Amino acid sequence: MEQQKRYGHFDDQHREYVITDPQTPWPWINYLGNEDFFSLISNTAGGYSFYKDAKFRRITRYRYNNVPMDNGGRYFYVKDGETVWNPGWKPCKTPLDFYECRHGMSYTRITGRKNEVEASVLFFVPLKKWAEVQKLTLTNQSKETKQLKLFSFEEWCLWNAATDMENFQRNFSTGEVEIEGSTIYHKTEYRERRNHYAFYHVNAPIQGFDTDRETFVGLYNEFANPDAVMEGKPRNSHAHGWSPIASHYIEATLAPGESKDFVFLLGYIENEQDKKFSAPQVINKEKAHALIAELDTTEKVDKAFAELNEYWDALLNIYNVRTGNDKLDRMVNIWNQYQCMVTFNFSRSASFFESGVGRGMGFRDSNQDLVGFVHQIPPRARQRIIDIASTQFPDGGCYHQYQPLTKRGNNDIGGGFNDDPCWLIFGTVAYIKETGDFSILDEMVPFDNQPGSEVTLFEHLKISMDHVIKNLGPHMLPLIGRADWNDCLNLNCFSWDPNESFQTTENVSEGTKAESLMIAGLFVVTGKDYVALCKQIGKNDEAERMQQAVDAMVEAVKKHGWDGEWYLRAYDFYGRKIGSNECEEAKIFIESQGWCTMAEIGAEEGMVAKSLDSCKKYLECEHGMVLNNPAFTKYIYEYGEISSYPEGYKENAGIFCHNNPWVIIGECIAGRGNDAWSHYAKILPSYVEEKYQTLHKVEPYVNCQMVAGKDAFRPGEGKNSWLTGTAAWMWYTVSEFILGIKPDYDGIRIDPCLPETATDYTVSRKFREADYEITIHPNGSQKGVKQITLDGQPIQGTVIPYSAGKHIVEVTM
Ligand code: GLC
Ligand code: GLC
Repeated sequence: MEQQKRYGHFDDQHREYVITDPQTPWPWINYLGNEDFFSLISNTAGGYSFYKDAKFRRITRYRYNNVPMDNGGRYFYVKDGETVWNPGWKPCKTPLDFYECRHGMSYTRITGRKNEVEASVLFFVPLKKWAEVQKLTLTNQSKETKQLKLFSFEEWCLWNAATDMENFQRNFSTGEVEIEGSTIYHKTEYRERRNHYAFYHVNAPIQGFDTDRETFVGLYNEFANPDAVMEGKPRNSHAHGWSPIASHYIEATLAPGESKDFVFLLGYIENEQDKKFSAPQVINKEKAHALIAELDTTEKVDKAFAELNEYWDALLNIYNVRTGNDKLDRMVNIWNQYQCMVTFNFSRSASFFESGVGRGMGFRDSNQDLVGFVHQIPPRARQRIIDIASTQFPDGGCYHQYQPLTKRGNNDIGGGFNDDPCWLIFGTVAYIKETGDFSILDEMVPFDNQPGSEVTLFEHLKISMDHVIKNLGPHMLPLIGRADWNDCLNLNCFSWDPNESFQTTENVSEGTKAESLMIAGLFVVTGKDYVALCKQIGKNDEAERMQQAVDAMVEAVKKHGWDGEWYLRAYDFYGRKIGSNECEEAKIFIESQGWCTMAEIGAEEGMVAKSLDSCKKYLECEHGMVLNNPAFTKYIYEYGEISSYPEGYKENAGIFCHNNPWVIIGECIAGRGNDAWSHYAKILPSYVEEKYQTLHKVEPYVNCQMVAGKDAFRPGEGKNSWLTGTAAWMWYTVSEFILGIKPDYDGIRIDPCLPETATDYTVSRKFREADYEITIHPNGSQKGVKQITLDGQPIQGTVIPYSAGKHIVEVTM
């Protein structure tokens, strides 16, 4: 392999990824904020902020897919004599003497140096605050006094990120701002129905400002050469309509060796209806003043930053492994858990591939995200389960997505994805096993958010299972509906109209025979979980009822879902096989191999082993396992979106990282540790960063949704980073199935599945009120626990019975 250029490296001690060249093959981003106020920030300070909902409360403007790439962000311009530069290189792109971007846990620090002046900016959202802090430290490293001119820059979004991009006949007339001292307020639409405004403040006197974009930049200029900056003269412009911005102008004189901090604050405020104004047309700034006062000195900001770091220390202390393999440890202990928090917060709404206007929170996505997050902050996971279940319908079906701001189901996309209900069981069981909190099952939860319709959460689980049972096809396998997990397998859609969305166009369900083996496997896995849960709470009849349904499904799969060497994928509308050796293309699919092996369907008959072998033989390549093989080379009207993608991309034979873990877990359950590990390492970001920094393109510290598959033009190229179910599935796989630490109702089950080469390792695991220090001695074995001692005493079986306090556990395999 040719020597690859490197753009950065891990710094495990600081839990950072350090980018040393601003011209990364794609913007490498990070997320700020943990609960209500969020920001996306690239390695050149591009990105935007929003409050709770990236569509309805977009605070700053961003231009997706622009030229140049990554346009719009929080920019600081330093004018030193005739030289104008930015600490993050963009937008001026003046060559820097030094550049570094450190992405850490909910913060980013970007440092640039030019002509012996250093500008270092720390970006973060303090805990529980609705604001992004930008602490800029300017240092004069030269032997002469420096007279610097500093301009800040943010561009306001007119709140609704969708209409902001299209309704210009209105937008160009609505923009309004106020200026008060060193604070610029953005109050567009506040005069009417909005009760919120934003502000951009700096904790120093300013010598000028701008709030009108055209005046500041110049109509035919770019962010790289705004008139005001180039001339070193702010215009003190006051925006009326057009495009309001916020720019502070500061003259800073620095003696040799001197350093100065400036705390910039981008804040968001909501006022009560009757307290909106302090005088006619003047916004009530009380809350803004209070927020500013909490963060207006270096000391206060440093304290808030220390609190943020302590918050992450505590979160990352819940599960910590020491294997001696840095590449594994850093993913398990830092980045995989971090990505799980981010996906929990954002679902699939806002990234550099998701524009924040299209998709809210997904029913299935959010349930899966829970599994990566539930150990971190169980009460938030609990609330999420209730929110999700509240968008269900009385027949067990549900909205496919909901908006985070309103928590209402999204009518545009509707429902009918027949895998959705099962995921509610998946998420809820993970929560109860982690916390032991069965009381969640008694929570009263509405249907479609309608007050008065409440039933217990347990009832929601029950109707979820029943939704599958009541929607079986001719082979007694689950009907697929609009699609199952694979949004693009649209078997009842039949679209020739390019203006139709495959996900929302009419779902022809009348007379359909389209059945899904993926849902069949999912039903068996979650059905077993449901049965075990029923037994835990003494609902033995219900357990028995569901066990029968599960057994029947297993039989149906064995009878109608087996193709000889692997599980079929589906039956189409007419009842013809999909994912069969008989098919011309796409003879084998990954999803049903994953779910049916996890469900151990036909294990005794050798089906599981054969299916796993077939995955290695037909799906695996250098970069992971592709979704289907061979790729579709033409559009198939009966299959829908899946066949719309060129070969090797996305759902058409891309390496859809999300589903690789299903097969890996299948391997683990089957005890094939060497194979499980080799599949896992192929999509583990820390292994990829070492091998393919340029080929892979996207961030090397997190998983991406899709890596181009073996049939693609450029196999190995990654896309759609950050917001993907891969995060939670990678976590679930490594923490519970490879390293083998599985929360269970009565304690922690120990059941690792490792490569033969694995050496001793220790996991520190906080679990409810207990602290376990678990050391595993694999002794060259791939699977099978021989003996466990708890605080020196041997125990029976493989579950460490839960009890509060500190415990030492030794495991011999
Ligand atoms: C995307 C969607 C997810 C879906 C997957 C496969 O990741 O967010 O819901 O399961 O694609 O189509
Ligand atoms: C597209 C994508 C798929 C995603 C879906 C969500 O179909 O290919 O990955 O799940 O949109 O609506």
